Amino acid sequence: AATKKYEFNIQVKNVSRLCHAKPIVTVNGMYPGPTIYVREGDQVLVNVTNYAQYNMSIHWHGLKQFRNGWADGPAYITQCPIKTGHSYTYAFNVTGQRGTLWWHAHILWLRATVHGAIVIMPKQGTPFPFPQPNFEFNLLLGEWWNTDVEGLVKEANKLGLPPNMSDAHTINGKPGPLFPCSEKYTYTIEVEQGKTYLLRIINAALNDELFFAIAGHNMTVVEVDAVYTKPFTTQAILIAPGQTTNVLIQANQAPSRYFMAARAFMDAPLSIDNKTATAILQYKGIPNTVLPILPHLPKPNDTASALSYNAKLKSLNSPQFPANVPRKVDRHLFYTIGLGINPCPTCQNGTQVAASLNNISFVMPKIGLLQAHYFNLKGVFTTDFPDNPPRPFNYTGAPLTANLKTSVGTRLSKIAFNSTVELVLQDTNLLTVESHPFHLHGYNFFVVGTGIGNFDAKKDPAKYNLVDPPERNTVGVPTGGWTAIRFTANNPGVWFMHCHLELHTGWGLKMAFVVEDGKGPDQSILPPPKDLPPC
Ligand code: C2O
Repeated sequence: AATKKYEFNIQVKNVSRLCHAKPIVTVNGMYPGPTIYVREGDQVLVNVTNYAQYNMSIHWHGLKQFRNGWADGPAYITQCPIKTGHSYTYAFNVTGQRGTLWWHAHILWLRATVHGAIVIMPKQGTPFPFPQPNFEFNLLLGEWWNTDVEGLVKEANKLGLPPNMSDAHTINGKPGPLFPCSEKYTYTIEVEQGKTYLLRIINAALNDELFFAIAGHNMTVVEVDAVYTKPFTTQAILIAPGQTTNVLIQANQAPSRYFMAARAFMDAPLSIDNKTATAILQYKGIPNTVLPILPHLPKPNDTASALSYNAKLKSLNSPQFPANVPRKVDRHLFYTIGLGINPCPTCQNGTQVAASLNNISFVMPKIGLLQAHYFNLKGVFTTDFPDNPPRPFNYTGAPLTANLKTSVGTRLSKIAFNSTVELVLQDTNLLTVESHPFHLHGYNFFVVGTGIGNFDAKKDPAKYNLVDPPERNTVGVPTGGWTAIRFTANNPGVWFMHCHLELHTGWGLKMAFVVEDGKGPDQSILPPPKDLPPC
């Protein structure tokens, strides 16, 4: 195992897209940022120095950070931010994981431009459990706003309203030729007839689940969230913010130029999308003048395609890569996801949207929760997050506009070390139903079941897949439906869980688990590093 060192300088740079130039926050002046390229078993040291006028913190999305929450990164959860002019070295080991993950700013909406890929190669001498690709490419899908994103969010919060939607989707930071002033910036992959390519696709968008397809070429899905899957072939993939998907493609079509395209999947009632991002797959020797063909993409409101795609995902579950699904459950949790309206004396309309789990909208603390837990500081959080909603109701029935006032608090749920947890996330029709990609820090989990409508604790568990369910770190809870996940709480620390739509996170759709230390010698939280940013 090697030690890989990276220098991340947070700096502002002028970038121009869609005929608009604006200063953006970047790592090393790059948008998207640099790729972290490591091998399973390596130690990684990323020294982050902040030269921008914003507080910063970086999250290594999907890395488990065993006993080492200090390197996880979410601001005010595991650390205080790195202030302007200061540095912090994230030090972590990449153990028991290989595949595609990513890193991103974990404070305000700065991840809009502060993000990049993490590629973990398998151990030396361990091949992929699928045909070896000849070449590979990273595709980071994102969103671009013509105006300053932080300003936009601040303004919206003042009004108590959602901020404007982005102006374009992007592939590796580029919207592609369907947008003005974008032709010469189009991202292009050159391929050779007969070769196999591995595409590492990352959804770094802030608020949109995306369909992605390549004209004329099927994709074989081989991995999601850095876990191998049973390979299956598809025309389009669905990928939620936070998720990663590895696909193999064969350059076996008539040599030409083909569009790769990403467009939103939004089954919220007000779904509109005219922001299709494109990039080009170009066969060697084909001139740039050939007009590319657009792929067939599912319609933005094509829920059936979304559900059937997700249903195809299964863990590889081979002898070498078994799916160790917890069979018995020590702790059952049932969380409702709601959007409500709360009073807001400082907002222009006197109200604001409050998103909640079990009717609690999470309030960010002023100091890191992990520090508060580790040093036993009182008054920062409570551990009384309820295992069930305050009262049952018809979660997905007619919109429930009464009693929308949610409670607010920094309430965490305490989990015993090594216990097995089942969490059912239930969407509700408070205000409106909507799909929510939920991300858990510090763990992967198994997606053992999902369904539309209200979860039925008597009937639904009988239909769980406990053999080869997909194992991931981010899962979409379907619109007006539920998702059940299971994990073994073997990583002590304070671990954030939240909707990976930045809009909803900002509204309070988040909470955290305190997983207690175990009794064994290697079962407690490691001591904090010396340079951990002070609060
Ligand atoms: Cu990808 Cu808490 O984030």
